[in-house]
Amino acid sequence: MEHQLIKNYLSIHKERFLNELTELLKIPSISAKPEHKNDMQKTAEAVKQRLIEAGVDKAEICQTKGYPVVYAEKIIDPNKPTVVVYGHYDVQPAEPLDLWDSPPFEPVIKKTDIHPEGAIFARGSCDDKGQMYMHVKAFEIMMKTNTLPCNVKFMIEGEEEVGSPSLGHWIIENKEKLKGDIILISDTSVIANDTPSIDCGLRGLAYMEVEVTGPNRDLHSGVYGGAVANPINVLCKMIASCHDENNHITIPGFYDKVQTLSTAERNEMAKAPFDINEFKKDLGINDVQGEKDFTTNERTGIRPTLDVNGIWGGYIGEGAKTVLPSKAFAKISMRLVPNQNSDEISKLFQSYFESIAPASVVVKVKPHHGGEPVVVPTNSKGFQAASNAMQDAYGKKPIPTRGGGSIPIVALFKKELGLDSILMGFGLDSDALHSPNEHYGLFNYYKGIETIPLFYKYFAQ
Ligand code: BES
Ligand code: MN
Ligand code: MN
Repeated sequence: MEHQLIKNYLSIHKERFLNELTELLKIPSISAKPEHKNDMQKTAEAVKQRLIEAGVDKAEICQTKGYPVVYAEKIIDPNKPTVVVYGHYDVQPAEPLDLWDSPPFEPVIKKTDIHPEGAIFARGSCDDKGQMYMHVKAFEIMMKTNTLPCNVKFMIEGEEEVGSPSLGHWIIENKEKLKGDIILISDTSVIANDTPSIDCGLRGLAYMEVEVTGPNRDLHSGVYGGAVANPINVLCKMIASCHDENNHITIPGFYDKVQTLSTAERNEMAKAPFDINEFKKDLGINDVQGEKDFTTNERTGIRPTLDVNGIWGGYIGEGAKTVLPSKAFAKISMRLVPNQNSDEISKLFQSYFESIAPASVVVKVKPHHGGEPVVVPTNSKGFQAASNAMQDAYGKKPIPTRGGGSIPIVALFKKELGLDSILMGFGLDSDALHSPNEHYGLFNYYKGIETIPLFYKYFAQ
């Protein structure tokens, strides 16, 4: 009955819900770029304003050392459970801009093969403004239909895409304010629109930057080449030696704490529908690659990785310049799984990288942000509520999956607040998060808005 009420309200207000999201997507809230400082503030204010309109008792913009956290709450009865919603209003940089079919901050709706009812194209549409805003609209529906069954707290941050450097301190300083029973997050994916799923794990992250220095200046590659180490050649060799022929990572101790899954657990995981040919087709690749003896889903879900995110040095301008560069750089990240620890892995990487450097160069390793992996227990009340909610909304029981991405703050929610997180995401992996032409299906947006109140209903029971 309540479900019907919610669906009716949603169908009446569909267009406005989409227009409001469109307005939010127009603000380029790129946390990585300091020149967007005002846009960050503007977005935080817009989110706060929308929460007030949706019916919270109070909403505030909480300053941190970095970008502010938007906090809001609706307390209907202190004796009832409290759902703490987490999301982020910041987005990734949109580059490379020339690969976008429409400007990243001028949202347009277009149909695609996977989204026949249309998708909204804009940076942040799926990750995470679109998914975060579903929670604001679901809250509005529960308020307007008198179906909010428990208390709600919203914590929407502006630094997720840069590793949440301020939110950790903020939650430690606001433990009282954040008292609740569960964290609810929509910032992950489902398998497909006809195959609902819920992530029950996230990988951790250790992100490093390396600098390799050879001679004290760029040299003529004819005069000196062959006799002096070329830092780019050396760096490439060092990077290549981080994997063996089976695509195992060679850093000593790297796998020591990796939790291995039982055959039964792996068989269970393998039941999730997955079409390797569709996967290859979507990415335009002829073949996949990865760690020997693991499937593609295992490679992204339960196994750690090491990847170069960027590499530079030397001459990259037009034409040919003969030069033996003085320096080479790379950004290298490792995705971690339980029970690896990002500080420990950073140290192992650093010692290994220094140890394999030839005497002809000097290597500097600088750790960037990190984050710990998480697993969400599937037998908890929260997970069951999410599972029931999706079952009602999709007409199918969702499949538990292990997501390959990272949301570093989730491990801290557990450590500092003692709260489990429910990763009830509605995007698709093919929605081009962090890539050009990011989009979010209208089906997904509305389905999320429909599902969230059902989560509250089951969680409050
Ligand atoms: N929403 C993503 C994480 C994600 C995406 C998890 C899809 C599962 C499925 C999040 O915004 C993100 O991009 N996180 C970063 C980590 C951060 C430290 C920059 C990531 O995973 O690279
Ligand atoms: Mn995200
Ligand atoms: Mn992201």
